[in-house]
This record gives sequence, structure tokens and C-alpha cells, in this order.
Amino acid sequence: MAVRLGRHSLSLPILQGGMGIGISLDRLAGAVAAKGGMGTISTAACGFQEPDYGRDPSGASLRALDRQVRRAKELAKGAGMVAVNAMVATAQYADSVRTALRAGVDAVVSGAGLPLQLPALAAEVPESTAALAPIVSSGKAAALICKVWDKRCRRIPDFVVLEGPLAGGHLGFSPEEAVQAQAGRPVSLSRLLQDVREALAPWRERYRRDIPVFVAGGVEDGAQMARYMEEGAAGAQFATRFIATEECDASEGYKQILLNAQTEDVTIVKSPVGMPGRALRSPLVRRVEEGGQPRPSKCVGCLVPCKKLESPYCISQALIAAWDGDWENGLFFCGSNVGQVDTMSTVGEQMDQIMTEWRAAR
Ligand SMILES: Cc1cc2nc3c(=O)[nH]c(=O)nc-3n(C[C@H](O)[C@H](O)[C@H](O)COP(=O)(O)O)c2cc1C
Repeated sequence: MAVRLGRHSLSLPILQGGMGIGISLDRLAGAVAAKGGMGTISTAACGFQEPDYGRDPSGASLRALDRQVRRAKELAKGAGMVAVNAMVATAQYADSVRTALRAGVDAVVSGAGLPLQLPALAAEVPESTAALAPIVSSGKAAALICKVWDKRCRRIPDFVVLEGPLAGGHLGFSPEEAVQAQAGRPVSLSRLLQDVREALAPWRERYRRDIPVFVAGGVEDGAQMARYMEEGAAGAQFATRFIATEECDASEGYKQILLNAQTEDVTIVKSPVGMPGRALRSPLVRRVEEGGQPRPSKCVGCLVPCKKLESPYCISQALIAAWDGDWENGLFFCGSNVGQVDTMSTVGEQMDQIMTEWRAAR
């Protein structure tokens, strides 16, 4: 069952998706890796709890990231893999990747833009054995990334995360496609999987090795994971269900809000990043829709594509407020099947359940 991912081997076909800000840090990632999966730390503003974050957000986050990668690796005890999720759109993208690689991370997973720079950044840290993976939402993006990585660095992805339109957080689809998906008419993840596998086929042949694809976004359980694996996926990435675990790094407030959320509370928001996103329809989201949200008064410059003080709200502040369980001011990212998450559990219980369902469905 083990999947080869570059120079690493993953014993269970389960990835925990990166969740910013502060939702998946060392504790959650370390717990998932300790069970044999891939646990992922989100680099997005990951130092927001540091005392000097207000003064030096970049320095505080890089210092925290180094510590978190090392701590997650300790928690993992050599069992699974510890990854970081670095969004291309973040201002300190390159430094975050370098820091994680130097700290000994096992994989870098990168989306929210095309991670064309990633293999060149990895080449700057030759001692790193990290597997490199883009997050894509189409075969076209997968093909372009392979072409550029091959041309510039003679390298192709060690694995790919295919994120469909039912995922939480930012979505790699048009606002129309995101709204359609929310209305129950999503672009089929099975079809996207075939597109991506076809786009990767010439590169698999040329490099004579597999490029495992993990599907993400609304994968409900181990039985669905088994179905996608029959269709050629190497496994699945889950995120929302890991929020309601004891080990998740979010506050108890966030976890309770998620546990109480129903399917009809989910909506598509327009993020200041310029992409649609899936979140709960919280008071902040309603104020933004109705034009009643005051514009941000300060900016830490976290995202390259953000219109800064002209944005209808500060996404960093809104995600940090959510982390803290502040229902009035928070932006609560979640996947489309948040309504099914209704009991608090542990990472071990979640992973055992997925694997039991997977075995029963094979
Ligand atoms: C609260 C939350 C925050 C997220 N933050 C990020 C992020 O920072 N970067 C990223 O690439 N994906 C992010 N995602 C997407 C997940 O990593 C994952 O691919 C997706 O949500 C999987 O679908 P599921 O939640 O239905 O299992 C986030 C998802 C959630 C629910």
C-alpha cells in the first residue's frame, strides 16, 4: 500500500491538507504523520502568535515555521511525512520554502498560483530530500508545470494534489464554477482526475516513473477514496474533517463553530487574493456582501495579489479572528461537506475510520 513520493515512502494514502491561518500547524501535522499519513503545516502567517508578529510579520513567521517543522518531525517519530503548504500568492513564499527545506521538511506542497519557481528554490538547499508537489485544478495546469520544471530544472513533480471545486479555502476555479459547485453541480473530480493523469502521462514515460495524484475537495470518506483510487488516484487529501480533532491547532471556538455548521451555512466568497473561496456565511461575510464592512486600517502585506487597504476586508485579520473563534469578525474556511462533521474526535480515530472504510470498499 506504501506510495513512493520522491525519496520518501508514505505508508497510508492519506494527506491532511494545509489549512491557514493557524489551523494546521505542528500539532495537527505531527499527529497525522505519526499515524503514517502526510501531515501538512500551512506556512500562511504561521507566526501570528509570536510576540513580535505585529512589528515583523515575516521574521516572526519564518522563525515559527522553522520551529514548527522540527517539532512536527519530532511528533511524527519517523512514521509518516511532514509537509508544508506554501501558497505562491504569499509575500514570503520563497523564504518560507527555503526555511522549511532547511528545517528538514519531507515535502513542499504549493498552490494558490502556479509554483513554477519551486524546483529552483529546492535546488538552493541541496541537502534537502523533500518531495515537491504542485496543487492543480486542471490537466492544463499540470502539463504547464511539468513543462516549465523540466525545462528549467530537469525535474518533474514527485506527486500532485488535484483539488476539485468542493474544497475549503481558496479555489482554483472561476467564481461561476465555484457557485455552480456550491449549488450541487460541481465539475466532476473523476473527470479532472482523468485530465490530470493524461496530462502527466508523457512525463511519466519520459522520466520512467510514476507521478502519484492525490484527489482533494469533498472526498467524503474512505469508500470514496477507494473509488478514486480505482480510477487511478494514489490516495486522497482531507482537510475539513481534521479540524474537529483534539490535535487540530485551531481554537476550541473554531472547532465548535465548525461542528455546529450545516451544509446550508456554506457559501462562496470573493477573496482579496482574487480567487473564489468556500467559507461559512458568517456575519463578516454578510457585512461584506451588503457593503457594510469598514475597509482595513492597516496592512501587513501578506499577499502579493491583494489590493491591500482597498480590499473590502483584510483576509489575514479575518482568518486570525476565525482561528480564535470570533464569529462576528472571522472568515471561517471550510469544505463543502462540513455538515457531515458533527463529532469531536482524534486524528487517530479519523485515520482509522478512513482506512476501515477504504478496506471495506475494496
Ligand atoms: C480552514 C481551511 C483552510 C485552508 N487553507 C488552505 C491553505 O492555506 N492553502 C491551501 O493550499 N489549501 C488550503 N485549504 C484547502 C485544503 O488544504 C484541502 O485541499 C481541501 O479543503 C480538502 O477538501 P476537504 O476540506 O473537503 O477535505 C484550506 C481548507 C480549509 C478547510
